[in-house]
Amino acid sequence: MTLIKKLIPDSLLTWIRRRREQKRFSSILQLQSMKELLSEGLITKREFKKYTSQGLLRHYIDVGKVEPPPHLVKQRIIARYGSEYSLRTFIETGTYKGEMIEAQLKNFDSFYSIEIDGALFEKAKNKFVNYDNVNLFYGDSGSSLKPIVKAIKHPALFWLDGHYSPNDKVKGAKACPIIDELSCIKDNLKFYPSVLLIDDARLFVGKNDYPTTHQLEWYLNDFFIVESFELKYDIFRVVVVNQRP
Ligand SMILES: C[S@@+](CC[C@H](N)C(=O)[O-])C[C@H]1O[C@@H](n2cnc3c(N)ncnc32)[C@H](O)[C@@H]1O
Repeated sequence: MTLIKKLIPDSLLTWIRRRREQKRFSSILQLQSMKELLSEGLITKREFKKYTSQGLLRHYIDVGKVEPPPHLVKQRIIARYGSEYSLRTFIETGTYKGEMIEAQLKNFDSFYSIEIDGALFEKAKNKFVNYDNVNLFYGDSGSSLKPIVKAIKHPALFWLDGHYSPNDKVKGAKACPIIDELSCIKDNLKFYPSVLLIDDARLFVGKNDYPTTHQLEWYLNDFFIVESFELKYDIFRVVVVNQRP
């Protein structure tokens, strides 16, 4: 062992030691995150056991790097906000495979979702062909959100999740259209309080059209009267009670 150690350069040994420490540290943090999810009722005891034993929940904090929670947790967070604010209208940017709509079918009465990728849009259309209450739109959410927000007759839960990722085939006018989306909501929304859930908060670092968290908060306060603004589990949660005059 000592001979092997002598043959390995110091820099490599340091790197290996750091990686080991990081792994140990990140598994502790992941366990804490999972315990938090459990105590908040966002995962069941059974899921907690399954995830911890299989090491499946690789998310949130990996030594300072925040990663997204599982889709299941996002689904439950959306359902909770919908129920807490008695919202029956779900508006989503970025349909993708329609998984979030599918998960929320029992929790809302009407669904509106925009997708920029034509192939994904067509697949989602087929998936929900028998659902009259699911309205799918093909387009760039930075601009296509306007007629939807104008048409709705109730306060809504907005799941703002339409953004470009490296594996995507189609890119909109902006990699992250969030400011255009918010501006469109502000100009057209008539029903309050509504809830804006903005996903992938970890990406809001001021690059590739993403504002920083501070800039996002500034825009929100400029556009709306904001009752609460919170960031948890990689999702910005914003309750707006009116637009700014
Ligand atoms: C992270 S996925 C959405 C996942 C989905 N909302 C869910 O919760 O299951 C992001 C989706 O946004 C789409 N997208 C990217 N830019 C967009 C834009 N400007 N307008 C509408 N959709 C966009 C991508 O093609 C992709 O399908």
